[in-house]
Amino acid sequence: MAGITNSAYRRHLKKQGVGLVVTEMVSAYGLIYQNRRTASYLDFSEEERPVAVQLFGDDPEVMRRATELVLSRPAPPDLIDINMGCPVRKVVRSGAGAALLADPERAVAGWIRTLYHRLPLLDPRTRDAGYGRSGPAPCSLPTRPS
Ligand SMILES: Cc1cc2nc3c(=O)[nH]c(=O)nc-3n(C[C@H](O)[C@H](O)[C@H](O)COP(=O)(O)O)c2cc1C
Repeated sequence: MAGITNSAYRRHLKKQGVGLVVTEMVSAYGLIYQNRRTASYLDFSEEERPVAVQLFGDDPEVMRRATELVLSRPAPPDLIDINMGCPVRKVVRSGAGAALLADPERAVAGWIRTLYHRLPLLDPRTRDAGYGRSGPAPCSLPTRPS
């Protein structure tokens, strides 16, 4: 959560036995415009793994470019989490967060489709089982009640 789940907090949670931690939400626009502060939200230490980076944004192409940036880092995260739940005004006003639920095609299908060429990153067993060649790519989405 924004302003809370920084690296120190996540490491603390790991020591308490938490299995998966997620970064504060990271603006896809901030990443592609190379905002330093935004990029710093991607930093995590190895002891935090498995760790997810949570991205928020409203435009599939911007999300794709931001995802590419995250995946091309020397130490990419284990998961990328699409923020589709945050209802605060400054987020939904921009068409991101919970606002994406109003248009899942744009939010999910559009974004995932733009990432098809990254599918070699999939575990070969997943790829060889036939997923991702045509039809929907395997992906997981946050299912929080928010
Ligand atoms: C229901 C709910 C869901 C939220 N979901 C997320 C989230 O998925 N990721 C995130 O980084 N922050 C999330 N937030 C945090 C908000 O973006 C915001 O940082 C927080 O409400 C504090 O903002 P404020 O100080 O302006 O009130 C959520 C907040 C609420 C109330």
